[in-house]
Amino acid sequence: MDTVNSAEPVGSATYGDNDFVVVANRLPVDRDTTGDSPGWRTSPGGLVTAVAPVMKSKEGAWIGWTGVADTDFEPFTIDGMRLIPVTLSSDEVLRYYEGFSNATLWPLYHDVIVPPEYHRTWWDSYVQVNERFAAKVAEVAAEGATVWIHDYQLQLVPQLVRRMRPDLAIGFFNHIPFPPFELFAQLPWRDDILRGLLGADLIGFQRPADAANFRRAVRGRLNFTTKGSTVTVPSGQLLPAHLVRAEAFPISIDTPYLEELARDPKIIERAQQIREEVGNPKVVMLGVDRMDYTKGIRHRLKAFGELLAEGKLDVEDIVLIQIATPSRERLEQYKIIRHDVELAVGRINGEQAEVGSIAVHYLHHSYPRDEMTAFFLAADVMLVTALRDGMNLVAKEYVACRGRDDGALVLSEFTGAADQLKSAVMVNPHDVGNLKAGILEAVQMDEKSRARRMKQMRRKISTDTVSIWSKKFLAELDAIHTNPEAIIPDRPAALPERSATAPDRPAAKTDARAEHGAGNTSPRDASTAR
Ligand code: ADP
Ligand code: F6P
Repeated sequence: MDTVNSAEPVGSATYGDNDFVVVANRLPVDRDTTGDSPGWRTSPGGLVTAVAPVMKSKEGAWIGWTGVADTDFEPFTIDGMRLIPVTLSSDEVLRYYEGFSNATLWPLYHDVIVPPEYHRTWWDSYVQVNERFAAKVAEVAAEGATVWIHDYQLQLVPQLVRRMRPDLAIGFFNHIPFPPFELFAQLPWRDDILRGLLGADLIGFQRPADAANFRRAVRGRLNFTTKGSTVTVPSGQLLPAHLVRAEAFPISIDTPYLEELARDPKIIERAQQIREEVGNPKVVMLGVDRMDYTKGIRHRLKAFGELLAEGKLDVEDIVLIQIATPSRERLEQYKIIRHDVELAVGRINGEQAEVGSIAVHYLHHSYPRDEMTAFFLAADVMLVTALRDGMNLVAKEYVACRGRDDGALVLSEFTGAADQLKSAVMVNPHDVGNLKAGILEAVQMDEKSRARRMKQMRRKISTDTVSIWSKKFLAELDAIHTNPEAIIPDRPAALPERSATAPDRPAAKTDARAEHGAGNTSPRDASTAR
């Protein structure tokens, strides 16, 4: 993980004069209290990797948490980014961040790979923290500013901000999947979440299926009309009547920056050194993930272990480097996955390794970007085997680093990246047989096929960059905010009348059915929370 030292305080000019405001649970930097003197280091996760370059290229402010509890920080700048910290208490870290965000929403939105927990006290804390973020937005945004809210931790913020500051253009982007209605419907606070999101003018999702799941939930729970990507929010829904667009904007990476790093002779040399350090095998395989049960690390290890045990791969020829960044370490399910992964690594090495030929090099650390690039360059085969992943930027980063059109990518079909990187070796990680076949195919693929497939994938990510992603999203947000009527050219009537007292108006079900055959469950109160 990169260390960042150049924090400068920002004066009172921060308040009310920001034309562009990013809002995310985390700031792009975390407070690092591990060394002799505290400093800042890059925060973990794909959101920061993707949004930080966007922020660096624009004037504006980023509102978020510093990663430590019970400590107030003044606004400061780093790398030209103006950062506005929001304080969380230890209790809020427990209930809002670890609880509702990461033990309720995270598993629910990732296909309930582990059971989500529903606790009313966690929800209360989620509401309270979302209100704090919204109040900060209302305080720092200039008149008519653009506000871009990110991810599942802050789904109530769009509605809260719209109520306080109807002058703002409000965008929301969900970095993780949005679940099918049948799963989302478990959530005791499902209607509040939908209303929270519908405060935005534009809601972006990673995949078209996520956007369709959201629109279906809106129809099924709130009975609002949807037509194509547009949702009509009628008056009397705790929101002013307005139109919302909900559609897919697949996120990407800073491709030119990574391509440049991958051409750096020092990094190329370091990649060679890594290969030597792991014994110069014929094939180096790599996995890079946060230590998370969604990433399919256990499945990957099982497949690799079986291939070695069956003699289909030889430990003298092949090595797996598994990098797993520490993540959410106090949560039970994260302790379990770490334990399981470490047990599996120990077992494979115990059973398959020889002196001088380790099967799995397991690294539970964060690394600076240069070192990560060297790992990508050192790897002949990249394994991305997530059981469910909104996008998975690692897959795209690997491709960006393969300027010589070599290397093979094994990619789970349950990642957003699978929509764009169609020439990867696609696997279903739930099917260990299929995963083993995919790994073997990648390892044994001839150079010509590797080059052809990598070229196709590199072409895709050269035109699919994070800069294009943000420009597209912000241009659409601007267009919708400036002229909402224009977003449904064939819309028959004008916007519903704005009225604070009008009763809820059921949506026209014919429109709703026109898209996906919506469910018609009527909204009920939350009842199952513990
Ligand atoms: P997620 O957002 O779920 O963590 P992504 O694959 O979308 O998953 O993004 C992860 C980001 O974190 C990528 O930019 C990746 O390069 C980076 N990353 C992952 N592991 C490490 C590590 N050990 N050290 C530094 N960066 C890492
Ligand atoms: O979307 C991926 C994401 O969940 C981000 O929202 C988050 O910041 C990141 O991964 C890392 O998780 P955490 O912030 O919980 O460490």
